[in-house]
Order: sequence, then C-alpha cells, then structure tokens
Amino acid sequence: MTILLPLYPWIKSLHIISMVAWMAGMFYLPRLYVYHCGLRRGSAESERFKVMERRLLKQIINPAMMSTWTFGLLLVATPGVIDWHAGWWHVKLLAVILMSGFHGALSKWRRDFLEDRNTRSERFYRIANEVPTLLLIVIVFMVIARPF
Ligand code: HEM
Repeated sequence: MTILLPLYPWIKSLHIISMVAWMAGMFYLPRLYVYHCGLRRGSAESERFKVMERRLLKQIINPAMMSTWTFGLLLVATPGVIDWHAGWWHVKLLAVILMSGFHGALSKWRRDFLEDRNTRSERFYRIANEVPTLLLIVIVFMVIARPF
C-alpha cells in the first residue's frame, strides 16, 4: 500500500506510543494482583481493587493493545518495511504473540478475582510480573539491533 509510505514516520510514532501505554498496563496489572491476594474476600479494599483492575484493563490495556496491533500491521503493510526472510522479524512476531497471550491470561485472572475465586499465590503473580519485561527486552533488541 504505497499510500502509507509518506505516513510511515507518523504511523511508527503512533505504534511506539501505543506500545508504551500497553506495556505500562501490562507491568501494573500483575502488581495489583500481587496485593489483591493479601486482601480478605468481600472486604471494601478487595472490592476497590476489583474496580481498579477493571478500569486498567478495559480503559488502558485493551485499547492500547488494539492500537499497537493496528499501527504495527499498518507498518507491515507499508512497502519495503519488512523483509520476511529476516530472523529478527520472526522472533519479534513470536514475542508479540506471546505478549498478546499473556494479555489474555491477565484478563482471565482478573475474572477470577472479580468472582472471588482466585487460588493463585502472591508469589505466582510476582513471577508472572516478570514475563512482559522479558518479552519487551527481546522485542526491542530484535526491532532495533536486528541481530540476525
Ligand atoms: C502487536 C503487534 C506488532 C506488530 C505487527 C509490530 C510491527 C512493527 C513494524 C512493522 C515496525 C517497523 C519496523 C521498521 O520501521 O523497519 C515496528 C517498529 C517498532 N516496534 Fe513493533 N510491532 C508490534 C508490537 C510491538 C510491541 C509489543 C513492541 C514493544 C513492546 C514494539 C516495538 C517496536 C519498536 C520500538 C519499533 C521501532 C523500531 C525502529 O525504529 O526501527 N512493537 N513494529
């Protein structure tokens, strides 16, 4: 789609702005789950965490993920941007799909807290919190350094 060529720097800017918002939410939500584990079910504090988790997911993480994908795919559709034989692109795409899968898991875990049936431990969510960080490191090294 040659019409995208003059828009390339703007679309890439919007792609990076969207991914920063997505990552901010992906780092913060598991942290809320860590603290939510320590609260008594049905308590006022637990109910307040449910509201915070719903707003963070619905108002920030979901829209940011969708716009990261939208502008990312527009970049893919821009002639000359992607060399489909490049190893870095395949590793980036795999890491982005894993990141989207982790997003799905966060959404399911939120529902477990909402319905007061979370059984996972604080330690589980502390470890889970590292997943988006590791994936981000892989993605940025791939797309900037392009090692292979
Ligand atoms: C969600 C699906 C995604 C797709 C389809 C996608 C696709 C792309 C494409 C095609 C480019 C342009 C590369 C170029 O200019 O040569 C790009 C740039 C970039 N992407 Fe993504 N991306 C996605 C998600 C992400 C995520 C999740 C991150 C970070 C966590 C990310 C970080 C970046 C960065 C930093 C650049 C700029 C690279 C540069 O300036 O050369 N992308 N992306």
